Amino acid sequence: MSASQNIPKKKITTRNLGEMKREGAKITALTAYDYLMAQILDNSGVDVILAGDSVGMVVQGLETTVTVSMDHMLYHAGIVSRAVERALVVGDLPFMSYQVNSDEALRNSGRMVKEAHVEAVKLEGGESICGTVDRLVSAGIPVMGHLGLTPQSIHKFGSYQVRATTDEEADILRKDARALEQAGVFAIVIEKVPAALATEIAQDLDVPIIGIGAGGGVDGQILVSHDMLGLYTRFHPRFVRRYAQLGEEMQGAFQRYVADVRAGEFPSEAESY
Ligand code: KIV
Repeated sequence: MSASQNIPKKKITTRNLGEMKREGAKITALTAYDYLMAQILDNSGVDVILAGDSVGMVVQGLETTVTVSMDHMLYHAGIVSRAVERALVVGDLPFMSYQVNSDEALRNSGRMVKEAHVEAVKLEGGESICGTVDRLVSAGIPVMGHLGLTPQSIHKFGSYQVRATTDEEADILRKDARALEQAGVFAIVIEKVPAALATEIAQDLDVPIIGIGAGGGVDGQILVSHDMLGLYTRFHPRFVRRYAQLGEEMQGAFQRYVADVRAGEFPSEAESY
């Protein structure tokens, strides 16, 4: 029996994630940027597929996510949505598509839903974006928050180090998480913060906390698929468990192909007409 035959076909909604938290069922989330990866993830039973702006780093080869545009996200999120039947599809709002004002945020989120067919949007930030979150949710667009290490602010922080390690920063994180919950998010991604703090926030809040580098005490986990598959190897944070070494596997296959063609061993007679 293939893995996909064991997975309940029931479509995952934002409401289901809240129910999963209440029932103590861990939420699984991974990223996708293209049709094939999204389809494989969906068939593997992952609950949430994020068309993330990490596309800038792992697909476009850029240093940061900052230059990813609305057009890039609409393109990738649209392809992902087309492939997915079961998982909840969340589209990342790229840097500067929601920070200027809530009108722009609403217009861009509306495009994500109407043109790319995502079922929710994700944006980075705490109290300062709660007015925008409220506006989107009031318009019927579910919002996922993102706190802790927020890659779109890399130029403000200057590093990808662990966040909220001081009492003051921990307090800000707690307040931001509560504010986002009050503003109406259905879940919050918390990235690269001490496990004890993330656990405390997950226990304090009703909405699910989905961790990345935030320990095992939260309500679910997300990773960048290309990281966990060993496809993106430029750096290896300790929170990334490598479930495969696909980059090495692919390079080996390409090298064997190159050698076979050069040696006249491909194609064979059986591979010819
Ligand atoms: O863009 C992304 O892949 C993300 C995850 C790291 C949560 O935001």
